[in-house]
Amino acid sequence: MGFYVTTPIYYVNGTPHVGHAYTTVAADTITRWKRLAGEQAWFLTGTDEHGQKVLEAAEKRGLSPKAHCDDLVVHWKAMMERLHVRYDRFLRTTDADHVALVQAVLQRLFDRGEIYRAEYRGWYLVKDEVFVTDKERDERVASGELPESAFRMIEESNWFFKMSKYQDRLLAHLAAHPDTIQPENRLNEVLGFLQKPLGDLCISRPKSRMSWGIELPFDHDFVCYVWFDALLNYVTGAPGFRLDPQDLGGWPADYQLLGKDILTTHAVYWTTMLLALELPLPKHLFAHGWWVSADGQKMSKSLGNVIDVNLLIDAFGVDATRYFLLREIRFGADGQFSYQGFLTKVNADLSNDLGNLGHRTLAMVEKWLGGVVPDRAAPDEALARRAQGTWERYRAAMDALQFKEALDAVFDLVDAGNKHLDARAPWALNKAGKREELAAVMRDVLEISALAAVLLSPFLPTKAPVLAHKLGTDVPALAARLFGGAGPLGLLVPGATLTLGEPLFPRFEEMPPAIAALFDAPTVATATRKEKPVSETPAAETPLPEMAWIEFPDFQKVALRVGKVLECAAHPNADKLLVLKVDLGEARPRTICAGIKSKFTPEQLVGRNVVVVANLKPRMLRGVPSEGMILAAGGEEVVDLLSVNAAPGDTVR
Ligand code: ME8
Ligand code: MG
Repeated sequence: MGFYVTTPIYYVNGTPHVGHAYTTVAADTITRWKRLAGEQAWFLTGTDEHGQKVLEAAEKRGLSPKAHCDDLVVHWKAMMERLHVRYDRFLRTTDADHVALVQAVLQRLFDRGEIYRAEYRGWYLVKDEVFVTDKERDERVASGELPESAFRMIEESNWFFKMSKYQDRLLAHLAAHPDTIQPENRLNEVLGFLQKPLGDLCISRPKSRMSWGIELPFDHDFVCYVWFDALLNYVTGAPGFRLDPQDLGGWPADYQLLGKDILTTHAVYWTTMLLALELPLPKHLFAHGWWVSADGQKMSKSLGNVIDVNLLIDAFGVDATRYFLLREIRFGADGQFSYQGFLTKVNADLSNDLGNLGHRTLAMVEKWLGGVVPDRAAPDEALARRAQGTWERYRAAMDALQFKEALDAVFDLVDAGNKHLDARAPWALNKAGKREELAAVMRDVLEISALAAVLLSPFLPTKAPVLAHKLGTDVPALAARLFGGAGPLGLLVPGATLTLGEPLFPRFEEMPPAIAALFDAPTVATATRKEKPVSETPAAETPLPEMAWIEFPDFQKVALRVGKVLECAAHPNADKLLVLKVDLGEARPRTICAGIKSKFTPEQLVGRNVVVVANLKPRMLRGVPSEGMILAAGGEEVVDLLSVNAAPGDTVR
């Protein structure tokens, strides 16, 4: 049946953010890779629409839960479309075939005596739709992570699934197939969890309290617990699946992707449900890490501290957005999101390294070799060995979902291509009239761009085809030759017409305005916002102190720059002043006098990054020029200098 991959189905209690884009793009990228390699693939994603959390979100908007979901699903599908995500099915848990399957599963387990009725008393955490122990609630409240109101005491009669019965079988399965849970540290977490005796799982909610869910077929007073319903989406959405051991269609999944937040529900609830149904377990559950905001907190709809993925796509484009998400952090680890980090990475890798390689080469071939793919006897041996290594590293990494490592392999080769150009100096070969050698060098470097185009195509769905087109071909043709054994530096066809065109990834000289605007207005600190958006907080009751207010354009007149202190010494004629040489990333360092001698010795300052008012008119201070001002905190007494972790010459705003 081919390769089957799933993402979690997302709660429609809000609109999507970078975290949801992340898992979805990862699943799309791996699907594109499998298809590129000629395999059949099936990619399932969707929305989790039942349960208390979604019900409360709907109530807040004064909508029926279904109308609320219909409305929000549009945003989720639009996010995926904008990311060029090509799923095979977008499953909503309100879809009729899913509802029917959940009811069939419930009935089957009930008939087999796997479900029983009992009293329940305990704390429920609506945010995660899970019951927690008294101890866990106490700890999470005491640590300040969650307010007491996040938990509800629930005391009611319910239906339970005999999960505990499957603990030993699950442990045996994990012992025999330890790679079921990836990465390895997540397996250890699950094994740790399974050291304690497993309880049974409460799988119902009385309609009298919470009616937004799938009705239990054997007791019409109850609906199904949202996780029990949601997890079954993975079999509903498997191609050709039927609840019949003879005909499981595309089940089991090859890879089920999820965030580490929902490891237990997948590694324990889902697997034991499958064991009870006598269905095979997924081959791999891969739990990746979290994107955290600048203050180190998990980005989440509930916390409201999220990065809007549409904004990133608008500002940087879809390819750069996908690229950054998968290159910046190892799949499995956590990563802190920063717009500056995004800009720097995209400029360095895509505009400079990849863009330059292609653009320089194409320009030279156009000028000296008639703008067609040059012919040559054989590729440079060392370069060909290297490209072969890249190809092997890339394949191994992709098959293990190690996206960052796969990209590292490609960009190492791109780097080697740029270095090869510099070392072989085609401009000199051209001058010396060494046509054959020139053609060979240019062809090798064009081939590196071609290999990059095909290997990057799962990541860069719109730009990789453009690069292939510049090289006189297309991605499917390149893939056919690569998989056909043409050798990683033998993908191009001599004589094919090249197109220089526009640079593939224009460089961002500064933060795109839509993002810069987030930080210009002091009322919107989107990236680090912790609780409610500032605009929703009640208007300040205490007036602000009187100030000599300035307008934003006034502030904009001040050019603040990052500087690095290179040298520092006492001023010859003034005992309060130090004289500093500060690198602002300009042609020469600036000389700046600063009244900070009472607080700092020269040794404490050399090597330190400071913030400089760069457009303060230079003047003489007791015979020494001062070409700027260093920002310090404190009144009469200096307390500290402003320090930032950024490169000399970077703008401070
Ligand atoms: O948990 N960093 O839905 P959900 C990385 N409906 N990934 C993140 C992330 C972040 N900051 N935030 C979210 C649910 N994600 C259930 C799942 S499955 C049967 C039911 C991604 O809307 C990540 O994949 O809370 C995470 O597991 C998922 O979104 C949770 O989405
Ligand atoms: Mg969540």
